Amino acid sequence: MPFDTEDNTFLLPGPVKMHPRVTRAMAVPAVAHRGTEFAKQSQEMNRLLQQVFQTQAPVVTLTGSGTAGMEAAAVSLLKKSDKVVGIDNGKFGNRMCKLAAMYGDATILKAEWGQPVALDELERTLRTVKPKALFLTHNETSVGFTNPLQEIARLCREHDTLVVADVITSLGGIDVPVDKWGIDVAITGSQKALGVPAGLAYVSVSEKALSRMYKDQGFYLNLPKYVAKVAEGQTPYTPATHLYFATIEALKLLLQEGLENRFRKVRAQAEAVRGAVAAMGLELFPAEGYASDTVTAIKYPQGVDDSKFRKALKDTHSLIIAGGQDDVKGKIFRIGHMGTVSFVELAGGLAAIETELVRAGAKVNRGAWLAPFQDRMP
Ligand SMILES: Cc1ncc(COP(=O)(O)O)c(C=O)c1O
Repeated sequence: MPFDTEDNTFLLPGPVKMHPRVTRAMAVPAVAHRGTEFAKQSQEMNRLLQQVFQTQAPVVTLTGSGTAGMEAAAVSLLKKSDKVVGIDNGKFGNRMCKLAAMYGDATILKAEWGQPVALDELERTLRTVKPKALFLTHNETSVGFTNPLQEIARLCREHDTLVVADVITSLGGIDVPVDKWGIDVAITGSQKALGVPAGLAYVSVSEKALSRMYKDQGFYLNLPKYVAKVAEGQTPYTPATHLYFATIEALKLLLQEGLENRFRKVRAQAEAVRGAVAAMGLELFPAEGYASDTVTAIKYPQGVDDSKFRKALKDTHSLIIAGGQDDVKGKIFRIGHMGTVSFVELAGGLAAIETELVRAGAKVNRGAWLAPFQDRMP
């Protein structure tokens, strides 16, 4: 049977499966984007975003993917005379560092992909460089790795360094209490844990960050311009109105479930998947103790070809998972579990994965995955 784009098991680490209520929310007529009705809806969306970001700070919305939010932070905060430190230990941390270096005077702390940087080295760097900001990616989707953001933010506060965090695949899936941890600029994208179509970046801006931003840098991506209008439910340029409607629906679904409940579910699913792949005899890619709860990255066993394997999953089992990117292309595969995906879908996915690994000649402990997976089922 040919692959059905409307009926399959979708386990990418973003975009993620969307609830039908979210896509249905967009099936409405055109709206006057400067009218009072839309302004009220925008204000509602902003309030819901603040709840999900766990912040009192304004959360602004840019039309663009997550990277637009990342660049907006860099262009609004940094001039070539500003010192900035970046953490590069994955594809997206590397992107944050490139942006930091493009706009500011950057010092980059590097580690192998999926390995943490030493916190004492970070502390020393903050003390000697005295940067205006630290740029990092919290959850490295590329390698299924989570940086210890809370500890890193604590060090930054001690050195009066602003924390600019890409929380694109953590916020909404993993607990990221923006105010409590002191994240000055937190950036996420619509198509990840929030389960909205791609096309929006949501960015929280602390008072301290705002006071240190440049009002005359960047045009479309100047964050102070967005902050100035957010309270009235307006944006400097035409907003992607219907993506706002989708966002409101998705945020309501998430808040109805309850943030704590969602984080617990995502954690349990991550543990179930990790337990299952270990029982199969497979290894995770990231350093031990740093595995992400929203995406699991698994090393291919000897002899399994990435494109053939994922083609078989798609063509034979209607299952979509991700491969590796850039440096780890062909070496890992990735399973996303950050949104409304169910345990039942994950179980089906794992059964198909094991089947195709066996067919590809990999040595796996057949059937051993089920018990540890079931142990984490609700
Ligand atoms: C952690 C992280 N940061 C940044 C990005 C880039 O986001 P976008 O593709 O929406 O620009 C992604 C996308 O996969 C991501 O996972």
